[in-house]
Amino acid sequence: MAEYVTLRHAGREFRLPLVEGSEGEKAIDISKLRQETGLITLDPGYANTGSCRSVITFVEGERGILRYRGIPVEQLAERSTFKETAYLLINGVLPTQKELTRFSVLLNDHSLVHEDMKIFYQNFPRSSHPMGILSAMVNALRSFYPELQNLEEEINITVTRLLSKVRTMAAMSYKISRGHTVVYPRQDLTYCANFLNMMFDSPVRPYELDPDVVKALNVFLILHADHEQNCSTAAVRVVGSARVNLYAAVSAGIAALWGPLHGGANQAVIEMLNDIAGKKNLGQAVARAKDKKDPYRLMGFGHRVYKTYDPRARIMKRMVHILLEKLHLSDPLLDVALELEEIARKDDYFIEHHLYPNVDFYSGIALRAIGIPSNMFTVMFAIGRLPGWIAQWKESMDDPDWKLCRPRQIYVGPGERPYSPIEER
Ligand code: ACO
Repeated sequence: MAEYVTLRHAGREFRLPLVEGSEGEKAIDISKLRQETGLITLDPGYANTGSCRSVITFVEGERGILRYRGIPVEQLAERSTFKETAYLLINGVLPTQKELTRFSVLLNDHSLVHEDMKIFYQNFPRSSHPMGILSAMVNALRSFYPELQNLEEEINITVTRLLSKVRTMAAMSYKISRGHTVVYPRQDLTYCANFLNMMFDSPVRPYELDPDVVKALNVFLILHADHEQNCSTAAVRVVGSARVNLYAAVSAGIAALWGPLHGGANQAVIEMLNDIAGKKNLGQAVARAKDKKDPYRLMGFGHRVYKTYDPRARIMKRMVHILLEKLHLSDPLLDVALELEEIARKDDYFIEHHLYPNVDFYSGIALRAIGIPSNMFTVMFAIGRLPGWIAQWKESMDDPDWKLCRPRQIYVGPGERPYSPIEER
């Protein structure tokens, strides 16, 4: 039986339908609110606003649950590969062996980047941040690969191109930034092994692939693959709602992800841990984070949705320990991170505010062990999040409730006033 919420305003009663998700989440459908009542809602940061119905990812922040297409992320991190998880997110089901082989062939076929794009890369100033370059270059892909007439073919090829080329472009930008020869993708390597080889192989020192490093990279990317309506995904959907091409929508997602409050936090965490290690004063960092007059925050702590331990952070932390042990490495920043977590988690402020480590807290330490430089950390996040952006964009394109995204506002500026000529001001 349909449920409603009653709204009373200006002596009238309005019935607003209740919508229930498959996991029991409830929402008030306000899509006719303004039409029927003249009112709008005000929700800065959209913390209470559902923007769509989605069948892709389920996050439950109170219990720390994350599932892609119903499958717990813990199981995917343990047993799947990033390529298979990408297929799952985009197509809704796990691939058969035949489908996975076909997907691999397509990814290999589209892995090269147009040679003219190399010239673009070479002309960015050396100090450019790789996220700015990636966002620009993904947008530029449309110029190099014009639209096809057949819509289905256009979408399928664009999706495959993006998944394959963004990986090549990320490695390419790293090589060019170091003034090194670009390494081309290889048909015989798996998705993650190929990326590592393009990053680290060199004419003077061939790169030796280590299965533990390949596994760690797969886990890293799986953990980042989707997270429902986060800031960058919302950006992809909002920009995509104007029916712009997928490259441009993903480019907007990359720009949003760059921010330190979102994906850029993984680089910011390492900078913070380095700073704390240099000053040898963890207590001061915690005190600053609690001081309301100080904008300083503990990076890698807190989350809009998780009010308990982020399940991705738990997996990442365990993975970091295993990886360092297998590689016979020790990282002093891991000791700082562990101590910081221990102090923060016993602190009343962090307990009362439900602030726990998020996915970015330990991920930088994993990436350092793999050999990724810190200014490439957020690019790694972008490679991981790509299947999620694509799946969410595709879903929005097929959504029968689709609408151009265009929020309203409450205007609080001056009332009407006349224009004054410059000599009278
Ligand atoms: N350190 C100290 N205090 C914090 C932190 C933190 N990392 N995060 C939140 N708080 C406090 C805020 O000061 C606020 O306190 P108040 O209610 O007493 O004023 C309260 O907790 C709520 O914080 P908001 O900023 O309102 O919560 P919101 O949901 O908007 O923020 C966010 C979430 C942006 C992630 C925040 O926790 C933060 O800035 N964390 C650090 C950056 C970070 O790690 N970002 C990565 C997030 S994961 C991802 O995007 C992949």
